[in-house]
Amino acid sequence: MNLAIETKKLTKTYKTSSGMQSVVKDLDLEVEKGEIFGFLGPNGAGKTTTIKILLGIIDGTSGEANVLGRPAGDIESHKRLSYLPEKPYYYEHMTGLEITQFYASLFGIKDKELCVNLLNRVNLGNDYNRPISQYSKGMQQRVGLAQSLLNDPELLFLDEPTGGLDPIAHIEIRDLILKFRDEGRTVFISSHELSDVERICDRVAIINKGEMVHQGRLDDLLSGGRIEVTADGVPENLADKFKGDDMTLSLRAGRLIADLPDTMSPNEMIDAIRTSGGSVVSVIPRRKRLEDLFLESVSGDNLAKGRVTGKMTDDKKADTKEEEVSS
Ligand SMILES: Nc1ncnc2c1ncn2[C@@H]1O[C@H](COP(=O)(O)OP(=O)(O)OP(=O)(O)O)[C@@H](O)[C@H]1O
Ligand SMILES: [Mg+2]
Repeated sequence: MNLAIETKKLTKTYKTSSGMQSVVKDLDLEVEKGEIFGFLGPNGAGKTTTIKILLGIIDGTSGEANVLGRPAGDIESHKRLSYLPEKPYYYEHMTGLEITQFYASLFGIKDKELCVNLLNRVNLGNDYNRPISQYSKGMQQRVGLAQSLLNDPELLFLDEPTGGLDPIAHIEIRDLILKFRDEGRTVFISSHELSDVERICDRVAIINKGEMVHQGRLDDLLSGGRIEVTADGVPENLADKFKGDDMTLSLRAGRLIADLPDTMSPNEMIDAIRTSGGSVVSVIPRRKRLEDLFLESVSGDNLAKGRVTGKMTDDKKADTKEEEVSS
């Protein structure tokens, strides 16, 4: 396998007032070259700590971290990667072009044309002569992306690249990131925006409390989904017949919406609906959502517990606005 990033049993331990605390534990990460990799986990999971180790900003306590085939922090590999922090700091009186030229000078690049081209590429062509103080958050994020391309990197680390952006800016930035992959670059994204990750990432890792919970191709991790059966004209007592551990049913005014695991055949339910005089409207297989996988992964934590065991998510409740007859 051709790996851009590889860690083996990577561990980071801090000495705190309550003793030694491992905030990254035995982490085995594998990021393949040319892919968009999503690095996920709740607040405090250890994502930024891991990124800082990969960038050589801090050292791991034990284990290995290799980036572009060299130990993390190696100067040669630094020339081939870039990093967009979650909250980049800009001198606000400078224009987009000036700040890009300033960062270019740190790489020893004096090519103004390159800076202009990169700013055009991130759709700041009309604005790069305005001071940053007049930029929206989305525009600032795009300046950051222009900078992250200055050294034509093979590997980009993007920390929350779409955090706090409006839906149009989300789409623009997502499209840019997809183009980075088309150009053969590897993109490592740390993000809480699960819908973005689900749309653009090839593979993901989910960590919790410093430990790996899942790592793999999104398609594999999200397979094993659900089947949604919708029917009309269903009598109220039918719901009782199908109560089960891993099923959600809602039945109101004769409309039944049942959510079953795809390991279960819907035939029995379809037969019962028909026998009862109801008619099946649809039977739709649904892929597991990344949000569900994420919540399962951190299900020991308070946030996730209610939602995972409650089965029906808030979104679905809002959609159906029906009384839940959940098991
Ligand atoms: N210098 C430090 N000393 C002690 N503990 C630290 C230090 N830096 C980070 N930590 C702890 O390490 C844990 C992981 O922090 P980290 O910033 O890596 O989380 P994160 O996954 O990036 O979270 P977020 O999603 O909120 O950005 C936290 O419990 C944090 O308090
Ligand atoms: Mg962080």
